[in-house]
Amino acid sequence: QWTMAGFKEMEIAHIREQVGKEKVICGLSGGVDSSVAAILLHEAIGDQLTCIFVDHGLLRVGEAEDVVRTFRQKYNINLVHRDATALFLENLKGVTDPEQKRKIIGRLFIEVFEEEAVKLGGADFLAQGTLYPDVIESVSFTGGPSVTIKSHHNVGGLPERMKMKLVEPLRELFKDEVRALGRELGLPEVVIGRHPFPGPGLAIRIPGEVTAEKLTLLRKVDSIFLEEIRQVGLYDAIWQAFAVLLPVRSVGVMGDGRTYDRVCALRAVTSTDGMTAEVFPFDMAFLNRVASRIVNEVRGINRVTYDVTSKPPGTIEWE
Ligand code: XMP
Repeated sequence: QWTMAGFKEMEIAHIREQVGKEKVICGLSGGVDSSVAAILLHEAIGDQLTCIFVDHGLLRVGEAEDVVRTFRQKYNINLVHRDATALFLENLKGVTDPEQKRKIIGRLFIEVFEEEAVKLGGADFLAQGTLYPDVIESVSFTGGPSVTIKSHHNVGGLPERMKMKLVEPLRELFKDEVRALGRELGLPEVVIGRHPFPGPGLAIRIPGEVTAEKLTLLRKVDSIFLEEIRQVGLYDAIWQAFAVLLPVRSVGVMGDGRTYDRVCALRAVTSTDGMTAEVFPFDMAFLNRVASRIVNEVRGINRVTYDVTSKPPGTIEWE
């Protein structure tokens, strides 16, 4: 009988056999897939594994710290944390086109990753949290006639250039199976149940130019929205929830004065695979409460909107 515990043992044996005494490098993003892959590898080969966490400075409040704490303290995994915030912001200066942002972020991500890998003296293996659907998707991406609507980044191209062999312990699994494996490995429920988060991060939730100031504003709005969602116990009923900082100013009143500040949009959807999505039907009282907290607590924002577009015709992200 097939069980997750059985799969885990089998996969550990398989990794040991594949890797032998060699070194393995694994890219860590904080998402479920790379986290599960890293922990599984660590159980299999211990200190032969080093994880590289390229922090592009486009994550949510507290996420980078969470990743570092979980992996270093809870699991005792060798982890390189490279804070490349300044580099990414520098390169994103003046860039407004969504695909251009993705290209720049994807390219820098690989460059920084490679730099850190070289500093470690290289490795024989590169581990990735590739899932079964990614395996299929990458085939249809390159082979099919379809146009890439949004480019997704990973470290493709890197293993060949650096002459590394790939280890992909999750390549036969679907998302829900990865979660089950994560539970089997003792990964905290907050990581296992985490909403999907795009590789380019908050950069594609700031239409127009990305700046440090806008990132700070967006993080505050986003964390209030998510805090309220968790508070009422709706986090797990939602596929993705996030805020978008709009490139618009609007007039408002605050006390006796007139304000002329930024506008944000809130987005929350249900979905099973991200291909189609429905708007999450919050009640009005909830949205009112979130809006009033945001306008009161985040200086620089004076208007909150809720995006009620399903996918299709909208996409989940705004860019
Ligand atoms: P869209 O906006 O295309 O999003 O409806 C579908 C799912 O994909 C995620 N997404 C991305 N993930 N890199 C990623 O890793 C990207 O460039 C990217 N763009 C969108 C989005 O968050 C949603 O889960």
